[in-house]
Amino acid sequence: MLTAEQVESYERDGFLVVPEFVTPEACDRLRRRADDIVDRWEPTEWRTVFTTNEQHRTSNEEFLASAGSIWCFFEEEAFDADGGLTQPKGLSINKIGHALHDLDDEFERWSYDPRLAEIAGDLGLGDAVALQSMFILKQPHLGGEVGCHQDAAFLNTDPITVTGFWFALEDATVENGCMWAAPGGHRGPLREEFHRNPDGRGTHFVHLDATPLPAPPPGGDELVPLEVAAGTLVVLHGLLPHWSGVNRSPVSRHAYALHCISASADYPAWNWLQRPDDMPLRPLARLA
Ligand code: FE2
Repeated sequence: MLTAEQVESYERDGFLVVPEFVTPEACDRLRRRADDIVDRWEPTEWRTVFTTNEQHRTSNEEFLASAGSIWCFFEEEAFDADGGLTQPKGLSINKIGHALHDLDDEFERWSYDPRLAEIAGDLGLGDAVALQSMFILKQPHLGGEVGCHQDAAFLNTDPITVTGFWFALEDATVENGCMWAAPGGHRGPLREEFHRNPDGRGTHFVHLDATPLPAPPPGGDELVPLEVAAGTLVVLHGLLPHWSGVNRSPVSRHAYALHCISASADYPAWNWLQRPDDMPLRPLARLA
């Protein structure tokens, strides 16, 4: 799938932008399916907020259980002082996760696209399995920031193999909170690990390396904006520092992210994401 230049660029930068990977129609289909999921979403305890400032990340039971389910997480700013939604439910969800790729047929078709397995193979991940998926809504006016992080902190294997397939389903711009990344930053150390507590409830960070992550703008200049059109695929190395800001614009910035790991790498039991025993990970490109 990839040219030698594309592989070289991924190895140099830690990310690879592939424009026009999917059609606008396919993007719309996936967005409509996400809409349906949100429409049907009526949990009994439905105020699960996903906050991405990592120290405050919610580690409640829904978050931990979402490894093997489809759960909608609310934007932090979705509620007023009395706990009511300030706008319709459909405009209040931050993301849907984390097993869309195995539990929803539309997301499954997308995620097990044989081209992704080929790309993974081209990048040295010949035995990739699909670990985790997220539909990210980055809502107009209040879509939350995602603090600068490395995915290997949250989806860890030994050796590090996590690789992200991030798809822009709408045009992503600086205005609506596009992703920013630090070219070459994947050659730096893993700064921290996000561990599930030994009793299975809650989580904590283990700090590994004091090298600071790149400061988001306007504080630093290491991060560059990845402004991409709908239909673009961005492949992300698990050690690449990346960040996205708050969306204060009037338009959403929908994206879908699928994270894969090598089947042969060790997957520590302290990872927050532990799939139920009856949901084994599946190789990319193998539909049920
Ligand atoms: Fe990430």
